[in-house]
Amino acid sequence: MSVIAALALGALVETASAAVAPTFTAPAPAPTDTTPFYVGASNGTIQNSPLVPGKVFDRFIQIWLENTNYASAASLPEFQALSTQGITLTSYYGVTHTSEPNYLAAVGGDFWGLYDDNFVAIPSNMSTIVDLLDEKSISWSEYMENMPTDGYAGFNYTNSDGYTYYVRKHNPLVMYDSVAQNSTRVSRIRNFNDFAVDVGNNSLSQWIFVTPNLRDDGHDTTVAYAAQWLNYWLPSLLNDTNFNNDRTLILLTFDETEIYTINNQVYSILLGGAIPSNLRNTTDDTFYTHYSTLSTVEANWDLGNLGRQDTNKTVSNVFSFVAEATGYQNMNVTDIPLLNITETIPGPLNPEYWVPYLAPMNGTGGGSGATFISPGTNMSLNMNTAPAPVNLTATMTGGASIALSGQRAWAALGAAMVGVAVSWL
Ligand SMILES: *[C@@H]1O[C@H](CO)[C@@H](O)[C@H](O)[C@H]1NC(C)=O
Ligand SMILES: *[C@@H]1O[C@H](CO)[C@@H](O)[C@H](O)[C@H]1NC(C)=O
Ligand SMILES: *[C@@H]1O[C@H](CO)[C@@H](O)[C@H](O)[C@H]1NC(C)=O
Ligand SMILES: *[C@@H]1O[C@H](CO)[C@@H](O)[C@H](O)[C@H]1NC(C)=O
Ligand SMILES: *[C@@H]1O[C@H](CO)[C@@H](O)[C@H](O)[C@H]1NC(C)=O
Ligand SMILES: *[C@@H]1O[C@H](CO)[C@@H](O)[C@H](O)[C@H]1NC(C)=O
Ligand SMILES: *[C@@H]1O[C@H](CO)[C@@H](O)[C@H](O)[C@H]1NC(C)=O
Ligand SMILES: *[C@@H]1O[C@H](CO)[C@@H](O)[C@H](O)[C@H]1NC(C)=O
Ligand SMILES: *[C@@H]1O[C@H](CO)[C@@H](O)[C@H](O)[C@H]1NC(C)=O
Ligand SMILES: *[C@@H]1O[C@H](CO)[C@@H](O)[C@H](O)[C@H]1NC(C)=O
Ligand SMILES: *[C@@H]1O[C@H](CO)[C@@H](O)[C@H](O)[C@H]1NC(C)=O
Ligand SMILES: *[C@@H]1O[C@H](CO)[C@@H](O)[C@H](O)[C@H]1NC(C)=O
Repeated sequence: MSVIAALALGALVETASAAVAPTFTAPAPAPTDTTPFYVGASNGTIQNSPLVPGKVFDRFIQIWLENTNYASAASLPEFQALSTQGITLTSYYGVTHTSEPNYLAAVGGDFWGLYDDNFVAIPSNMSTIVDLLDEKSISWSEYMENMPTDGYAGFNYTNSDGYTYYVRKHNPLVMYDSVAQNSTRVSRIRNFNDFAVDVGNNSLSQWIFVTPNLRDDGHDTTVAYAAQWLNYWLPSLLNDTNFNNDRTLILLTFDETEIYTINNQVYSILLGGAIPSNLRNTTDDTFYTHYSTLSTVEANWDLGNLGRQDTNKTVSNVFSFVAEATGYQNMNVTDIPLLNITETIPGPLNPEYWVPYLAPMNGTGGGSGATFISPGTNMSLNMNTAPAPVNLTATMTGGASIALSGQRAWAALGAAMVGVAVSWL
């Protein structure tokens, strides 16, 4: 991005933040109420397959907030109050910067070398946690605040008040074509009016990802604002057995730190009735990352794995009380890797260190199941056979780079290059 473009963007961001009210105003009396503010009216209660018991929990709910250093969240009374009810994870890390690659990683086990928040669509031969859950008929859904309609695939959405509350970059599963291009699956990405109805009818799925809007998650505001939203949204739901019963595990976390020059440690709390009472109001200093959410779910339901970072033992410790109950052996990571590295990680979405989308490697995840292979996977294109990273920026010249735009163009060129390479063989 040019300096001028960066400055212009900075100015826009500042204008947007300046317009935001400093204090949170509840859009409805309770999170179980519907409101036009959430945009599309609910299309009725979600249909779930019969409950599949897990070893430690029957429902896993993740709630993601944005861009906050560990210490900033830890200093606020709202988080302190919640921490007395659960297990505070004092060594939990985001996996890179910016935001979007962290969301991709949490469902796909990789961030594909991405280091910006551009529009991406991961090809349908790349698996996600949904493939592992569907293999065992474990129901799942996402709830996105201010996403207008179920399965909406647009880049963002602006409410009638003129504010853009919803962004695709915080909606992990819609960025994967294996979900977005399948109408059955994509309809399980729902908005907050659906959430109200699904809770009201005691029909929440077993794996749930919750993304509050750009103000409520702290992205366009502050962590103090996010804490006010949380104080509206979470405590009453913790008391609602349709949301939280004695078989529910909840992870409250942040995508990444605000500052890039420190390692990526984010404040995270495990909550919910599945936590043994003797572990409430305690801390756990085991090293976890967003990949731990995959391995923990795999361990709980004895699932297969994605054959990516969910099988990398260094970065995928299982939440320790789940590891103990399932017999999973965690690693004692004393030398915590730097997870604030951005731009220099090779991948199909990194134009300067480009490698193609690779087949998964056979590995062991949190469960005993096999590595999932998506339909359409070229098994001979894997980590062992991968070409060295290519600098597409350097290989592109003049007119071509102007005619094409953005990462989809880089990916298209990359695919074309592989096509050429294959035809030479
Ligand atoms: C429900 O379906 C109707 C008709 O397709 C649509 O207008 C509405 O926005 C949908 N609501 C949601 C939350 O998707
Ligand atoms: C929303 O999308 C439009 C069109 O792509 C873009 O110009 C705008 O910057 C986006 N806004 C946000 C907040 O993402
Ligand atoms: C869509 O997803 C459903 C649920 O996993 C699956 O049964 C179906 O085969 C998928 N359809 C296609 C065309 O992949
Ligand atoms: C139950 O779902 C129906 C639609 O399927 C909805 O009209 C109703 O309000 C829901 N009940 C509660 C208590 O939310
Ligand atoms: C939740 O229940 C606890 C214990 O009964 C109570 O102290 C607390 O006020 C309740 N919180 C909300 C928000 O209803
Ligand atoms: C990442 O964090 C470490 C501190 O843990 C710091 O020394 C390093 O400079 C950071 N890297 C970047 C690229 O900012
Ligand atoms: C939580 O633990 C701390 C000590 O670590 C103690 O001072 C505090 O009273 C406890 N709070 C609750 C609500 O149990
Ligand atoms: C596993 O994770 C560590 C820490 O991020 C990294 O150094 C290592 O390369 C990873 N291994 C594989 C096979 O990806
Ligand atoms: C992890 O290793 C360190 C250094 O060897 C040791 O001090 C610590 O007790 C170990 N922790 C666990 C939980 O084994
Ligand atoms: C993984 O194992 C399967 C089944 O044994 C095999 O077909 C596949 O080629 C293996 N993949 C790699 C990358 O070794
Ligand atoms: C996955 O699909 C993409 C897009 O069709 C293709 O470029 C890539 O080579 C495929 N990778 C594997 C390992 O099948
Ligand atoms: C890739 O090529 C571009 C254009 O020549 C150059 O500016 C950039 O530094 C290169 N990147 C790397 C990682 O070598």
